[in-house]
Amino acid sequence: MSTFTAFETAGPLRLVQVGAGGMGQAWLDTIAANPDVQLVGLVDLNTDAAQAALESRGLQDVVVGTSVSEVAAATGAHAVVNVTVPVAHHPVNVEAMFAGLPVLCEKPAAPTVAQALSLAASAEVSGQLLMISQSRRYFNSLTQLKAVAGELGDIGVITTEFFKAPHFGGFREEMDHVLLLDMAIHPFDAVRHLTGQEPVSVYCEELNPSWSWFKADAAATAIFEFAGGLRYVYSGSWCADGKETSWNGSWRVNGARGTALWDGDNAPTAEGVEGAALEIPASLDAPEQIAGSLAEFVSAVRTGNLPNGEIHSNVHSLAMVEAAVQSAETGQRVRIDDVIAAAYTQALESERNADVKAALAAWGSPQARLSGSGARSRALSS
Ligand SMILES: NC(=O)c1ccc[n+]([C@@H]2O[C@H](COP(=O)([O-])OP(=O)(O)OC[C@H]3O[C@@H](n4cnc5c(N)ncnc54)[C@H](O)[C@@H]3O)[C@@H](O)[C@H]2O)c1
Repeated sequence: MSTFTAFETAGPLRLVQVGAGGMGQAWLDTIAANPDVQLVGLVDLNTDAAQAALESRGLQDVVVGTSVSEVAAATGAHAVVNVTVPVAHHPVNVEAMFAGLPVLCEKPAAPTVAQALSLAASAEVSGQLLMISQSRRYFNSLTQLKAVAGELGDIGVITTEFFKAPHFGGFREEMDHVLLLDMAIHPFDAVRHLTGQEPVSVYCEELNPSWSWFKADAAATAIFEFAGGLRYVYSGSWCADGKETSWNGSWRVNGARGTALWDGDNAPTAEGVEGAALEIPASLDAPEQIAGSLAEFVSAVRTGNLPNGEIHSNVHSLAMVEAAVQSAETGQRVRIDDVIAAAYTQALESERNADVKAALAAWGSPQARLSGSGARSRALSS
């Protein structure tokens, strides 16, 4: 059985952040605003950009470098926040975990499910926590929606409509499957969070509207089947001027006892059978978005409680994206188990660390390993 080690620190958790790009800047501000953590190191291939990001915020006494393990050793760091580009997630996470540090990593865990499985086995072998920051789980109004959805009885259909018209420039406008790969993991992950159910299969079609300013695939519609039988229908476009939805999209949850609606920004509304009132619980005042995932990471490191986004569980969210892409490419319904089984074979073939390869081989069935039994924690006092 895999374990990760919990530890308490006398003062704030000392963090090294890796990646000082667009999202890295938001993380610098979020870390600075949280008294439970202290930024002690900033790593980027571009050290000038890292220095500039620190100076523009007046952040001092932060060691800058290009190697996460070297900066962590020089600063006595306790943990790492990885905000690099997706292709760098696997090497940076592995280097940090084998240097003895728990990691909070931006989504997606890795560009492929195979690499994410390697990360899960690396977490087991190193004994470290790897948590993927799925920041869109942390909305107080989503917590309200989850609570009212729990009052609806059996859930039949959940829909998300996501219609925005952003002009990002850069890599997003040049890549294939852009909506599925860069954005859809958020609602796909959120529906797992909302229902506590795991996906079984998906049929998906992609479209690049005639007026698209993206090279490819700026719109997609996917129908997922979940283990409890419910269907989740996602329809989205990044070329949708006019009457845009929120960044979370517009949600409808229909169950045996009624329907809940969520506009993605505000408290949900709900109505029961024959117009019966359904109570919406009061909103919490918990930290939202990346501030929420940072707070949960700190708590997990200190208590040993398994957090949302722990790598073994998070593989299912990434598998939803990979399965949707495969379905769009082949025109076939794709089973999530088949995606994970193929990724497992690929991970075993390509793993270069002998201990991680042995850990992967010992799994036998990847699905059993990923379904809740993959990671356990133990507390250590230090
Ligand atoms: N949660 C959200 O809502 C959200 C929003 C935007 C981006 N993201 C995620 O954040 C991550 C970063 O995105 P971004 O927009 O900041 O990208 P970016 O390209 O602006 O910045 C990435 C930074 O990482 C650095 N880097 C790349 N490889 C590195 C390596 N091996 N070691 C050290 N530094 C390295 C680059 O030099 C760059 O400064 C991505 O995973 C992205 O999906 C999440």
